[in-house]
Amino acid sequence: MSASRIIINTDLGKSQISKYIYGHFAEHLGRCIYGGFWVGQESKIPNIRGIRNDIVAALRQINIPVLRWPGGCFADEYHWQNGVGPVENRPWMVNTHWGGVTENNHFGTHEFMDLCDQLGCEPYICGNVGSGTAQEMQQWVEYLTFDGQSPMADLRRANGRKDPWAVRFWGVGNESWGCGGNMRPEFYADQYRRYATYCRNFGRNRLYKIACGASDSNYHWTEVLMREAGRFLDGLSLHYYILPGDWAAKGSATQFDEDAWFTTLRKALFMDELVTKHATLMDQYDPEKRVGLIVDEWGAWYDVEPGINPGFLYQQNSLRDALVAGITLNIFNNHCERVYMANIAQTINVLQAMILTEGDRMVLTPTYHVFEMYKGHQGATLLLVDINCGLYEHNGESIPAISASASRDETGKVHLSLCNLNPTRAMSLVCELRGMEPARAIGRVLTAEAINTHNAFDQPEAVKPVAFDGMTLASNTLQLNLPAKSVVVLEVE
Ligand code: AHR
Repeated sequence: MSASRIIINTDLGKSQISKYIYGHFAEHLGRCIYGGFWVGQESKIPNIRGIRNDIVAALRQINIPVLRWPGGCFADEYHWQNGVGPVENRPWMVNTHWGGVTENNHFGTHEFMDLCDQLGCEPYICGNVGSGTAQEMQQWVEYLTFDGQSPMADLRRANGRKDPWAVRFWGVGNESWGCGGNMRPEFYADQYRRYATYCRNFGRNRLYKIACGASDSNYHWTEVLMREAGRFLDGLSLHYYILPGDWAAKGSATQFDEDAWFTTLRKALFMDELVTKHATLMDQYDPEKRVGLIVDEWGAWYDVEPGINPGFLYQQNSLRDALVAGITLNIFNNHCERVYMANIAQTINVLQAMILTEGDRMVLTPTYHVFEMYKGHQGATLLLVDINCGLYEHNGESIPAISASASRDETGKVHLSLCNLNPTRAMSLVCELRGMEPARAIGRVLTAEAINTHNAFDQPEAVKPVAFDGMTLASNTLQLNLPAKSVVVLEVE
């Protein structure tokens, strides 16, 4: 067992960890909306106005702060007017991106806003640039947020909603470099400026406008957007998916060895380089950091589970995904000066999901548990963690063995989240908490027998957090023993 050292200056710290870093994403894709969030009012599955009660309760438990919708690639084919009014009159469409299934538009604007109300979270709506018009986007904003008399506000009232909704986060297209129109950055920057012009602030509603940003390390895209449109935008997005393999053979979500474990975690750590480099470019045009980096799609992407429509992107979620989530959230916390929001893809039954459903049953994934364990960081003040730990070496390559972040909440409590990436070695850590005289520390740990342990419908609690007993507190120093392949979260006060 190797000894490592962490120093935290608990009385310093100036940046706030935006609660929106703990955001989520729900697309009309596979069974995320239909069967996931939405079952319809006639369903035997307990629901309120068609929205599943069990899902709402589970997501409220993790303090879901924001939900992005309706896509993803779907957003640039979505025409919002088809999703309002009596359901029997709503036109159907083909979901060409995701499995070629028929979309009946039963879940539309009113249902999404109701979902956000039930969840107690803010909506983040992504408008259609790829196949839509500036007028269509303008009218959607008017429909949602205008209080006076106007064709769109009147239509909203006729559809049963008297008061306007508050909508802050507004995306102007999705992946406009790809499924959102295959545009070049110069062209998109101009399109962004044009569309954003007509996304109006009605009444007291103030839009936070988010431009489509880069994929992975496409720094050129960020450079052009900041240069050409920087002063017109509030947020610039970034998408990054972790594939243990490549797009042709991504790798199984549950059948994998230590090579794939190591590669997946190495790629998760790459988020730090991505955020650092995109943020450095943004600094050149926005040194005050007014523009937020919005990582509105991230997570692990594996081969679809056998026998499932490949377009549904349904995958299991194992202990490895808990580590991916823990590492990535630590990175976002540590970059909270620039990262204002992040939305893991996707909430239910798609990619690195929080929840899997099968009929009336649901299972909370290891990723869900990490979001629940980390919720103390939401809105807290970031504390710098000076960490001196060993490496996790595998097949001649190495990565840091520990990932960490820390914060102090408004009650003065310190939250420390630690991931031990090594699948076979426990880590002994000495953690000095400078600037406080702690009276007590409690913790929880998430780990499992094997690297691929996961929660299934017949074994829903194979991976779940339990009380952490590998810790002693003396004066302001914690002695920690982190189990191999674990996520540990501590509260110190
Ligand atoms: O999350 C799945 C898809 O990944 C999204 O629709 C798209 O934006 C991205 O390529």
